[in-house]
Amino acid sequence: MDKLIVTGGTRLEGTVEMSGGKNGCLALMAGALLAKGETILINVPQIGDVRTMIEVLRALGVRCDEEPGGVLKIDATEIRTTEAPYELVRKMRASFCVLGPLLARKGYAKVAMPGGCDIGARPIDFHVKGIQTLGAHLVTDHGFVEVEADRLHGGQIYLNFPSAGATQHLMTTAALAEGVTTIHNAAMEPEVVEVAAFLNKMGARIEGAGTATVRIEGVKELRGTTFKLIPDRMEAGTFAVAAVITMGDVRIENIRPADVEPFVMKLRETGAIVDMYENAMRVRCNARPLATDIMTMPHPGFPTDLQQPFAAMLSIAEGTSVVTENVYERRFKYVNELVRMGADIKQEGRTAIITGVPKLTGAQTAATDLRAGAALVCAALAAEGQSEISGVEHIERGYENLVGKLRSLGAQINDNGSETKEAPTTEPVVQASGSPVL
Ligand code: UD1
Repeated sequence: MDKLIVTGGTRLEGTVEMSGGKNGCLALMAGALLAKGETILINVPQIGDVRTMIEVLRALGVRCDEEPGGVLKIDATEIRTTEAPYELVRKMRASFCVLGPLLARKGYAKVAMPGGCDIGARPIDFHVKGIQTLGAHLVTDHGFVEVEADRLHGGQIYLNFPSAGATQHLMTTAALAEGVTTIHNAAMEPEVVEVAAFLNKMGARIEGAGTATVRIEGVKELRGTTFKLIPDRMEAGTFAVAAVITMGDVRIENIRPADVEPFVMKLRETGAIVDMYENAMRVRCNARPLATDIMTMPHPGFPTDLQQPFAAMLSIAEGTSVVTENVYERRFKYVNELVRMGADIKQEGRTAIITGVPKLTGAQTAATDLRAGAALVCAALAAEGQSEISGVEHIERGYENLVGKLRSLGAQINDNGSETKEAPTTEPVVQASGSPVL
């Protein structure tokens, strides 16, 4: 699929089901390296980043079997090599997080410095410093990080910023260290809690995940387990934006209300009506959304991953909005593309000022990273006329069957001009059922 072709202006209506969460999934796959035995992950999304992580694990000689229905079996009883190749790690930053588990299991690892979406400086200093605190001898050389330790020991780790990736990686690594590790200023993302729950199910002793202080008491061995992934809150947020920007009415199923709450609170400020249910939300909007300001922050702040789709929606809002990006400074690369569609956005540094226009118009645009791609798709759904979005490979990294799911809601979207792609993944029901719980 080279590009998406979208004819905007159709109100999205119906029911759509969210997939398992990408960010947790990648960390769990790295964590599976700790177990001697089979780990079974359920609700695994079929997306590019998961495929890349499977390739990384296979390159280490670990058995990975994909089964229908989103089941992934990983057996790391045997790890043939502890060196993760550059060609794979450069494709995706999260693959760097095999470093700690490999070290904890085998006493040595060599992993290429990571790549991934170009959304600003993405250093690995917290990871490196944390692993050294756990007793590893570490050298960086020719674009590789090489670590060595007979047995890791516990330690006090302070993160300068509550990094989700570093918290997951260090928690995972410390699970097999001798003694107690404490991570201070830890990230509180639902995917951090998810990784802790997974490791505990494998036999780890982790407390405090979801707070700013995580305590890990190391154990000697971990066993394989079966674990169901939590839903993708970023996918849910993207579909909520798609509903509002098209003034539609969409029921989004397989969500956890608490995980999407920070986003939903801001969505309501735009005039959208959001009804929350036990595992679903209904999002609708009958008029142009209203302007509102957003500021991205670590969880439970407004998620940086949803900044771009939300900004696409604000570009047609009534009034002026200020968007401040506090996590990744280059997450504004979609702005020029939206301007080409008629948006009025002025961006300087970490701030974008968006003056809402009544209508966007279709244009040829290019996705530069995953969430920028999502923003362009949302904008194109609302725009007058036809848009072409290239750089689809970025979108495929993180969204399972985005085209099919949007088509099931009535969107006119094709991949590379194909007219008849199989669409519905869920039955098209417009009415929300059950009583709102929030
Ligand atoms: C994860 C998510 C990504 C999300 C981001 C922030 C995955 C696979 N990706 O990325 O979708 O946008 O969290 O919620 O889970 N930092 C350092 N040094 C480090 C590590 C991070 O300075 O060693 C900084 C980063 O530059 C950034 C901030 O910390 O400014 C947050 O980054 P982090 O939470 O680590 O992002 P990722 O885990 O890479």
